[in-house]
Amino acid sequence: MAWALGVADDPEVHAWLADLPRIKQQPNLVFAAARWHGAPAPGKYAAFRAVLLEREEAVKATIRARATQTNEVGRLAALTPVLGTLDGPLALVEVGASAGLCLFPDRYDYDWPGAGRLTGSGGPTLTATATGPVPVPATHPDVAWRGGVDLNPLDVTDQDATSWLENLVWPEQDERRERLREAVAVARREPPYVVRGDLLERLPDLLREAGRHGTPVVLHSAVIAYLEDDDRERFHDVMTGLVADGACHWVSNEAPRVLPRVTGDFAVGPGRFVLALDGVPVAAAHGHGHALEWRTTGGAGG
Ligand SMILES: C[S@@+](CC[C@H](N)C(=O)[O-])C[C@H]1O[C@@H](n2cnc3c(N)ncnc32)[C@H](O)[C@@H]1O
Repeated sequence: MAWALGVADDPEVHAWLADLPRIKQQPNLVFAAARWHGAPAPGKYAAFRAVLLEREEAVKATIRARATQTNEVGRLAALTPVLGTLDGPLALVEVGASAGLCLFPDRYDYDWPGAGRLTGSGGPTLTATATGPVPVPATHPDVAWRGGVDLNPLDVTDQDATSWLENLVWPEQDERRERLREAVAVARREPPYVVRGDLLERLPDLLREAGRHGTPVVLHSAVIAYLEDDDRERFHDVMTGLVADGACHWVSNEAPRVLPRVTGDFAVGPGRFVLALDGVPVAAAHGHGHALEWRTTGGAGG
């Protein structure tokens, strides 16, 4: 917060930022790059500013080369109950997978205080407070195949890539950083198959491959916001067509304005995503998966 307030009143730093490509003038990315190059965080604005000005070339190179693509495994606490309603074995296709950490719903235990628990995976526990008729799965999803696509997949076995992922977690969020480290350890045991490319282009091939192994499920969280409006609409149409043809299920978890035809009149609170199955909202989910509010009317599952 101190850094953001400091930047707001600092014309020299405004000029520093103006030299970056517009799409790279993102606070989260600039702050992350400054931390990457030694700005102590949380810390005083003066120390952050000094890193920007004294290490300008290096910080700008990082900003140009890297992106904010936080991979939040906590979201599995929202996605897994939906996956539990589908007949397996499942073949998961995650679009916008980042490092692919959300491709392992079967490797975690879950605690949904207020609704129930799912244990026995031998993995770390993910927790989301729960309200409404959450369909707590009796068993873990049977995942026969998992694959994904990302514009810039991060390799979980590459220390530099996972250090950058850690660096993207806000400094005061120790619990989140710890969860990320555990998730990387889980994924490293079986590094996920994530291809490089645009999700709209790579989806057909991935679906073909998935269909050889189980019931294909296309899933995504915090991804479609990155698409231009036209592509969001196109993606919606593609997915609706695939679901209508019985080619796959579609599990989406996005901010309410991102897929307006999915959200419809489903009202969610601030900071909540719309969790939907096959284009129908089933729950409101905290953006990082810490809360799950199952829909009581209208959607699938009650
Ligand atoms: C905020 S991250 C979310 C990652 C993961 N889904 C999660 O929930 O933790 C968004 C990811 O979408 C990817 N992405 C954005 N636009 C994309 C596109 N057109 N095709 C493929 N991946 C894309 C980004 O590279 C980034 O890794």
